[in-house]
Amino acid sequence: MSDDSRPSPAGTRTAAVIPAAGRGVRLGPGAPKALRALGGTPMLIHAVRAMAASRAVSLVVVVAPPDGAPEVKSLLDAHALPERTDFLVVPGGDSRQESVKLGLDALPPDYDIVLVHDAARPLVPVDTVDAVIEAVREGSPAVVPALPLADTVKEVEPAGEPGEPEPVVATPERARLRAVQTPQGFDRATLIHAHETVTDDVTDDASMIEQLGLQVVVVPGHEEAFKVTRPLDLVLAEAVLARRRLNDGF
Ligand code: CTP
Ligand code: MG
Repeated sequence: MSDDSRPSPAGTRTAAVIPAAGRGVRLGPGAPKALRALGGTPMLIHAVRAMAASRAVSLVVVVAPPDGAPEVKSLLDAHALPERTDFLVVPGGDSRQESVKLGLDALPPDYDIVLVHDAARPLVPVDTVDAVIEAVREGSPAVVPALPLADTVKEVEPAGEPGEPEPVVATPERARLRAVQTPQGFDRATLIHAHETVTDDVTDDASMIEQLGLQVVVVPGHEEAFKVTRPLDLVLAEAVLARRRLNDGF
């Protein structure tokens, strides 16, 4: 048995904050993204189960759509979670950053490692979650799972109008780039300090730690930790679930 699969060593407790308050504009019209069904179960429930699957995680804080906290609470009551996992639901804010902050504000004092995980990444495998926790336990204040890129990336001068040709400014060396996923793992005090200090708009939590001048490290991510963003991602997510069901059947 690897160390990852054991419950927390004495003195370390891990909580997961799941921002789930977004509308899912890029997915198109419908319910808030986190509440859309995947394999008949809301995406958020998959994401909560993915965090609770780690024996180290003893609390999940779900940040619900601003007016959807009661609905999310009853959803969580209706779906089984492991007995060792508690959960809390708080209403979210206008930006992801604000929602994460509201989740952190609700954290009880006795957790020293915090994971932040997008509800929109419902299928992250438990081994990825455990690898992130392990790297924080080993002393990194901020850990992100990430994958090498398949596509070459160009930096452009963004066009004023949609569809206009955009001049290329640079082509970063692909081998040095990583596409970042969640859960990102943090020393709790460091993450809270970052959220209190950094006011710039950011698209992930680790970049706030970078702005503090602290070292962020990358560990291997997983293909199945992709973010459900556009309609085609739902097709892929259903296919991953179908493959898991098939594999479980044999
Ligand atoms: N999120 C949040 N609060 C917000 C905005 C986003 O908690 N005000 C959460 C989303 O629910 C999602 C995660 O942050 O789990 C990643 O955001 P993204 O994939 O961009 O989701 P949405 O913002 O919902 O999608 P879109 O940008 O297409 O509207
Ligand atoms: Mg968004």
